[in-house]
Amino acid sequence: MVQQTLRQEVRRLGPGAKLSSVRQLMSEHRVSPGTVRLAMARLTAEGLLDARPGQGTFVASRPGPEVVEADFGWQGLALGSARVSADAIASLLTLPVPGAINLAGGYPAEELQATELVSRAMTRSARRPGVWGRMPLEGIEGLRSWFAQQLGPAVAPYEVLICPGSQSAINTAFNALAAPGAPVLIESPSYMGAMIAARAAGLRLVPVPTDRDGVRPEILAQAFESSGARLFYSQPTHANPTGATLALDRRQGLLDVVAQAGAILIEDDWCRDLSFEKTPMPPLVSHDRNGHCVYLRSLTKAAAPGLRIGAIVAKGAALSRLTASRVVSDFFVSGPIQETALDLVHSPGWPRHLRDVRARLLNRRDILASAMTQHFGDGSVTLLPAGGMHLWVRLESSMDEVAFATRAARAGVLVSAGRQWFPAEATGSYLRLSYACAPETSLRRAVEILARVKGETKNVKRSKPRSPRGPAPTRTGPGPSRTRPKSASA
Ligand SMILES: Cc1ncc(COP(=O)(O)O)c(C=O)c1O
Repeated sequence: MVQQTLRQEVRRLGPGAKLSSVRQLMSEHRVSPGTVRLAMARLTAEGLLDARPGQGTFVASRPGPEVVEADFGWQGLALGSARVSADAIASLLTLPVPGAINLAGGYPAEELQATELVSRAMTRSARRPGVWGRMPLEGIEGLRSWFAQQLGPAVAPYEVLICPGSQSAINTAFNALAAPGAPVLIESPSYMGAMIAARAAGLRLVPVPTDRDGVRPEILAQAFESSGARLFYSQPTHANPTGATLALDRRQGLLDVVAQAGAILIEDDWCRDLSFEKTPMPPLVSHDRNGHCVYLRSLTKAAAPGLRIGAIVAKGAALSRLTASRVVSDFFVSGPIQETALDLVHSPGWPRHLRDVRARLLNRRDILASAMTQHFGDGSVTLLPAGGMHLWVRLESSMDEVAFATRAARAGVLVSAGRQWFPAEATGSYLRLSYACAPETSLRRAVEILARVKGETKNVKRSKPRSPRGPAPTRTGPGPSRTRPKSASA
């Protein structure tokens, strides 16, 4: 709104004219300074405004690109159809709207990040001799050893590859471990970024239903058999979005099924550092002898989104292929970033930070869960996760969760509509609510707003099950319509 008005103002004033101050614009439009600055920054980026430090902001003297419109239409023909649609990645890339209460984010709020520790580690690391030079392709030795030690004797440092975060690791795994057109099994629901990466690699997603204890080994066995898949992407610990953890009595059974299928399990252990349990269950890879597990781990969630460090652990030919794929995509991870991560995880402040952030997340989880139960009823919170950042919340099954999320955003609360977390049709009406991004003090207020939105959305009914990306893919596995799935919230 402000941006549009400013645009008109720019046209009216003409080149060289001075714009009103931020303060004046704030009071004219009754918005926050952040909103005005954001609008100004966008128009400056478009070349319409010229910010002169100490003097103010002026209408640019040269015409911006808005005046002389470029024509990119020819690119549609040159590029053909997109493997990753802009719509699909929108919710991964969108930054929170200033002023809104963000229950939709994927990283902890800044006050929960280890920014101080990371900054100090970076200052030390950036000065280390040779740090800006070429790094070993697989990663620096110290960091590989640290990741290996975390997993116990089953993993040696040479089996660890350092990569820039786990999204990159997922992408590498899908590209290196299956050919385009191959099926890949995936828990339903699952992490949206993994589904997008699989589709971008040309893989065919085969949903495997889950319940509050994760995947049932016998259903996984059926899925391997009926689909012919040799790859299974899974989050056994505090899965995003459901929060479910694979039950102890299913773990060996699941590993056996993967081995019998001659398949590879991609274990995405994305939030091991954010577990609320005293002794979280060890990752499946620590029981894997024969290279059936490719394990992914990341530091970004517990440290800071900008410390883009993760690891891939693999054995045998899978390790060679993953290494080759890593080299093809970006040679190696920047030395100062790797050294910073190594410095950070060995610093005395790191365990303190982890204890603190876990305690604060646990507190936020309880606040959000109790407010949801109060306003949305007992069964609304499908599971109280023992780690991570999200609640998977069930709405009345007739309610359209996309309409709900749109109205909630208008009312100032950002939530993530459940549909986009399903590899095929959603099995009900769900929201993913994050308790990690918004200030703790605004969580209750956010739920009160959502309760009002619920009242307004009551009459917007879900028409029929819809997949997150148009028509459902051909289902070869035990998707929702073949096997009666226990839903994630059962
Ligand atoms: C399950 C899961 N895996 C991987 C990632 C990617 O995280 P990063 O690339 O920051 O390590 C995310 C981020 O939200 C996630 O939720």
